[in-house]
Amino acid sequence: MDDSMRILLIGPPGSGKGTQAQLLEERLGLTHIGTGDLLREAVRNETPTGKLAKPFIERGELVPDDVVNKMVEEYFRRPDAPRDFVLDGYPRNRSQAIAYDGLANELGIDIQAVVQLQVPDDVIVERLAGRRICPVCKAVYHVSANPPRHDMVCDVEGAALVQREDDKEETIRHRLQVYHERTEALADYYRTQGKLHDVTADAPRESVYRAIVALLEQLGLEKEVRG
Ligand code: AP5
Repeated sequence: MDDSMRILLIGPPGSGKGTQAQLLEERLGLTHIGTGDLLREAVRNETPTGKLAKPFIERGELVPDDVVNKMVEEYFRRPDAPRDFVLDGYPRNRSQAIAYDGLANELGIDIQAVVQLQVPDDVIVERLAGRRICPVCKAVYHVSANPPRHDMVCDVEGAALVQREDDKEETIRHRLQVYHERTEALADYYRTQGKLHDVTADAPRESVYRAIVALLEQLGLEKEVRG
């Protein structure tokens, strides 16, 4: 019997996908796979993928599908690829979802549930403008809603927190526009498959986490929860 757990978080930039994926990793043992994190790492390491992706990320545009699909395929074809995971930021449009479904059929890693985090646009700009991340472990903080214990250094690594290049206000607004134009069709794709579930994410992060876990329990996925 397949007792692994594979979920996807979708939602606009700043809806808390990374934050909730991090909690699901810490508490349920799911591996957090964020294509934004993988791409930013590729940019930092100046790999061919990183060089290709950099201008798109800086403009707040989606990186071309073939680049991202290839990166994800390589990730899942590794012998040590996780069986229990939470996808954050991929698939991000219909064509990526179709590509992922092809790979998933072959490797037996179909997505069991898609959680759509819902937050109004005006809340998002405030969240992203206040976001700070650890450059070492990728932990996500917010200057007021989720500050580190000590002034602007990571609780785990002690590294000075940084602001993402694409968290400037004009880029945030463009990312939101791209989301509304391109990513919302993704929700319809998963709705048709009967996998889409909405969670209100304009609430404190612990409440959002509890709502996600309650949903997983309701879907009968709780038996796989590592606790
Ligand atoms: P990516 O890194 O995936 O960014 P995104 O989707 O724009 O989402 P964010 O990471 O900005 O937000 P989030 O929802 O994870 O929110 P977070 O938890 O950090 O992608 C970046 C770029 O990479 C894209 O623009 C694109 O160029 C490229 N890319 C990535 N994947 C791609 C793909 N598949 N195809 C093509 N291109 C791709 O939270 C935000 C802030 O809010 C934080 O400060 C946090 O502390 C705070 N916060 C979180 N939850 C709460 C809460 N409940 N209450 C108050 N504050 C909260």
